[in-house]
Amino acid sequence: MKRLKYKYHVTARLQSKVLKLIKGNMDGTTREAMSQVQGIPLPERVVKYWARVEHFQASKEDLLIATYPKAGTTWTQEVVDTILNEGNVEKCRRAPTQVRMPFLEMTSADGLNAGITKLEVMDPPRVIKTHLPIQLVPCSFWEAGCKVIYMARNPKDTVVSYYHFDRMNLNQPEPGTWQQYLEKFMTGQLGWGSWYDHVKGYWRERQNKKILYTFFEDMKEDPVREVTHIAQFLGKQLSKSAIDRIVQMTAFSAMRENPMANYSTIPDTIFDRTASEFMRKGEVGDWKNHFNAEEDATFEEHYCKLMADCPIPIRFTI
Ligand code: A3P
Repeated sequence: MKRLKYKYHVTARLQSKVLKLIKGNMDGTTREAMSQVQGIPLPERVVKYWARVEHFQASKEDLLIATYPKAGTTWTQEVVDTILNEGNVEKCRRAPTQVRMPFLEMTSADGLNAGITKLEVMDPPRVIKTHLPIQLVPCSFWEAGCKVIYMARNPKDTVVSYYHFDRMNLNQPEPGTWQQYLEKFMTGQLGWGSWYDHVKGYWRERQNKKILYTFFEDMKEDPVREVTHIAQFLGKQLSKSAIDRIVQMTAFSAMRENPMANYSTIPDTIFDRTASEFMRKGEVGDWKNHFNAEEDATFEEHYCKLMADCPIPIRFTI
């Protein structure tokens, strides 16, 4: 009896290992579950190496770009890099986004290829990406008085974009159906937690800390105005022609064709481009193609309830 039980356990373990290899990839990428830090759902690999993130030492010249996932992070990063390099194409194409501006809390399954590891070999001033809600941002950023650029995007377009991203990113948990996904978004179960708490957290602190709070919809509506605003925040005096060049270089169509800004360097074993693209549509209002009338009504009611204590001027159309 004992022998049988043992045999069963060994077989089950082997089976699960084989399944993992088939389902995932030989390099260890597999759709992994979420774990938590202070109640915020984060990928298991992020939680596993969390202590390194928590103790990261920021320097006062570092700049943090903070967003909820799919709010236009990559766009903001490209805008910032082109501003800092005054629209110099060659300099901005020196490396892919994730190398130029590392993702603070992200790490590979083996912990080696971490944002922190890249940051440790870079000299300040560094431009750092994070999706962390404000309460999880390492203290050293606030102690050093770092500038932060936050970009918010309306939640309907955000959840649509996140849904397609989770379909294609084989490191993320299975998205399930659109209806299931929407429910998870509304109840804060997706990676990096509640969109509502995220946008409110940075909004409430924007005047106490050096936070420039920007909106995807504003950038889409008037990129010249927004790029000028970001350049001012970064203390960069740029000519009108430099601003125009930056707007051109960071337009959706330009970034989509730019291998250093479109994540085409991420292998197909991680980004399944047959499911969706990273540079998907880049629009305001694509949610109208996904929400049915009933979902929209439920979402609106829930949104009004959750945002009543913090009226942020979020626009769903422009
Ligand atoms: P869609 O999926 O709606 O197309 P993040 O960088 O935070 O992951 O956000 C990705 C979203 O920003 C995607 O949205 C992507 O297409 C969009 N995006 C990236 N660069 C953009 C640009 N230059 N202009 C407009 N949208 C852009």
